[in-house]
Amino acid sequence: MAGNDQAYMARALELARKGIYSTHPNPRVGCVIVRDGQIVGEGWHVRAGEPHAEVHALRQAGELARGATAYVTLEPCSHHGRTPPCADALVAAGVGRVVAAMQDPNPQVAGRGLKRLADAGIAVSSGVLEAEARALNTGFIKRMEQGLPFVRVKLAMSLDGRTAMASGESQWITGPEARSAVQRLRASASVVLTGADTVLTDAARLTVRAEELGLDPELTALAVSRPPLRVLVDGRLRVPLSAPFFQAGPALVATAGDVREVSPGHELLAMPGADGHVDLRRLLQELADRGVNEVLVEAGPRLAGAFARAGLVDEYQIFIAAKFLGSSARPLLDWPLARMAEAQELKIVEMRAVGDDWRVIAVPRPAA
Ligand SMILES: NC(=O)c1ccc[n+]([C@@H]2O[C@H](COP(=O)([O-])OP(=O)(O)OC[C@H]3O[C@@H](n4cnc5c(N)ncnc54)[C@H](OP(=O)(O)O)[C@@H]3O)[C@@H](O)[C@H]2O)c1
Repeated sequence: MAGNDQAYMARALELARKGIYSTHPNPRVGCVIVRDGQIVGEGWHVRAGEPHAEVHALRQAGELARGATAYVTLEPCSHHGRTPPCADALVAAGVGRVVAAMQDPNPQVAGRGLKRLADAGIAVSSGVLEAEARALNTGFIKRMEQGLPFVRVKLAMSLDGRTAMASGESQWITGPEARSAVQRLRASASVVLTGADTVLTDAARLTVRAEELGLDPELTALAVSRPPLRVLVDGRLRVPLSAPFFQAGPALVATAGDVREVSPGHELLAMPGADGHVDLRRLLQELADRGVNEVLVEAGPRLAGAFARAGLVDEYQIFIAAKFLGSSARPLLDWPLARMAEAQELKIVEMRAVGDDWRVIAVPRPAA
């Protein structure tokens, strides 16, 4: 039975992953309904405000849901959000058993969904493939538990650890496959964040481009229908409104100084920090308050270094090109450290080839 539970939950997780580009601010959730060893209903949450995974799966199962087992990657909700509680829908459908991968960290749910099911006489259990389920919604979980979004820093570097020439030129260090992978990282984020100098030097727009995603038509359509908010850290408002970044759509600008007039479609926030720059932690808190689960930082060494120094980075995705840019080129992070004891220890969680480049995914280890 336990083996089957894992197999059905694996399928529910596969369904949940389809929502990777479209569910934010909601979590990605999948559901499978099984009766007599047959899958009779499947569903996944597509977009906030639309039916949850359980509702899609119950609709497909119809009368066959009675006495069946429902596998859900996140505890069914118990509160009235934009849609009615899924726990009630499962009770009404007469399912006999509910298996969840994890409890919902949303304080409005937090065990109440499972309790409501148990109170209705349904057999409930939680924790099947929990690690996989948590990994899929790491941003949602962090926002619910800490009031901060998950911060992923993407950088492209040469084999000698350089990210731009001394002149600032950096296009392109990596090849088209790596850039396509970055497009998918952008599409899965709630926010793509950059800095004034990257926008000024690279004429960066930070948009999601359908033709570069390398996804099937269904996922491409979902990704472009729900593009991430573009956030610009521009402490002294140096980027002119005529920049391609502003021409490419609505954006949020964080400044350390006075708020001036911005053109329609853009929003300006004053977030001065003690050092005269934008207060990055406060900015992240503000983004979490707005329902932002995952932030992708695509910046150069100064801004990426500022996030790293402030201990605000959850994950680095470093694309490595097989080339040397030489000793006058710029480093990965502006982060002067004097002693080995100060080194930031990391754990490499993945390393794989992407076209002619390599991608290293690493997470900071807490200081000993
Ligand atoms: N290889 C790559 O992956 C990659 C990616 C992006 C960019 N680049 C290259 O990197 C270069 C630009 O890098 P950069 O880091 O100078 O530019 P950046 O990414 O634009 O970062 C500079 C911005 O960060 C802000 N900042 C600096 N320190 C801060 C702190 N402690 N707290 C808050 N904000 C802070 C600055 O604010 P103020 O306005 O207050 O000074 C400025 O707006 C360009 O050559 C570009 O081509 C490379």
